[in-house]
Amino acid sequence: MEYITSILGIETSCDDTGIGIYDDKHGLLVNKIYRQTTLHAKYGGIVPELASRDHIRKTIPLIKLALMETGLKQYNINAISYTAGPGLINSLIVGTSIATSLALAWNIPSIPINHIEGHLLSPLLTNNLPNFPFVSLIISGGHTQLIYAASIGQYYILGETIDDAVGEAFDKIGKLLGLKYPGGPSLSLIARQGKYGRFKFPRPMIKDSTLNFSFSGLKTHATNIINNNTLNSQTIADIALAFEDAIIDILIIKSIQALNKTNNKRLVIVGGVSANEKLRKQMTISIKKINGNVFFTKPEFCTDNGAMIALAGMIHYKTNNINNENISIHARWPLTTLSY
Ligand code: KG4
Ligand code: ZN
Repeated sequence: MEYITSILGIETSCDDTGIGIYDDKHGLLVNKIYRQTTLHAKYGGIVPELASRDHIRKTIPLIKLALMETGLKQYNINAISYTAGPGLINSLIVGTSIATSLALAWNIPSIPINHIEGHLLSPLLTNNLPNFPFVSLIISGGHTQLIYAASIGQYYILGETIDDAVGEAFDKIGKLLGLKYPGGPSLSLIARQGKYGRFKFPRPMIKDSTLNFSFSGLKTHATNIINNNTLNSQTIADIALAFEDAIIDILIIKSIQALNKTNNKRLVIVGGVSANEKLRKQMTISIKKINGNVFFTKPEFCTDNGAMIALAGMIHYKTNNINNENISIHARWPLTTLSY
């Protein structure tokens, strides 16, 4: 009988409970996600205590559902991978406790995964990861980084935000505009109705000699515009459009600088904000112009999910990078500290 390796992946770093099962014959078998959006919507942002409590309610039922849908039994699972950081500490504790307890009960290894590495490798889920080395732009609610990925496990930070993450900026400005939480997708949707040229946002740090980003000034700029204008639906759309364009410009300019600096032509863009359609289109056009290639994963794998954690788990399992002895959780866990 053919032997298949199957990994169950658990993601609970923030406000999404994600469960994925990945095997080395068929690839991704199932990707179950429970989003806590409505739970946090009335607060306009994630409330960490509520997030962790909801992970407690949702993780085990989702694991059961994933097993049921695939027809797999516990003895078909070879290892359990889980997000051990970075993220909200109490949310991480829930996923880690469930993963390590189940692994102990099932007598299989548990594999701690760095959430950012999960994002970084996520284009593999759609067979769209180029050969190493490449430059990766990680843009999510918690992170904005340009990484030089030399090989699996060898990552170097080229630049990062000195204040807000890009998704955080989308969410904050969405909130100021009175849009539905999370701000990123809502703002992007309404920006389609916007008219060009009415407002202009700055492009901070594009002339800076580093590859760092800064987004906090955009919030001040939005606040000033909002205070000086009556917010009707057209004005909201016009501001959203100008803001989105500024963000896209900054990301394109900095990515091209990073490719030039590393003499590389392959750019991989991951994380929740990489689901943004306009960014995907504009980035593809701009990178083609410099004879480069840009790689994305499917929108459903851009935002947090268990599939990328199962996939990263499979890679660690195959390279024997398993840590069953020490259970450690890291609210902060720079990619550069990984080495295997
Ligand atoms: O990767 P992710 O699910 O969670 C973190 O690891 O942080 O990213 C969530 C972020 C949120 O800030 C959300 O507003 C943003 O991704 N986002 C978007 C879009 N879809 C999600 N931002 C802009 N445009 C989108 N279409
Ligand atoms: Zn994420």
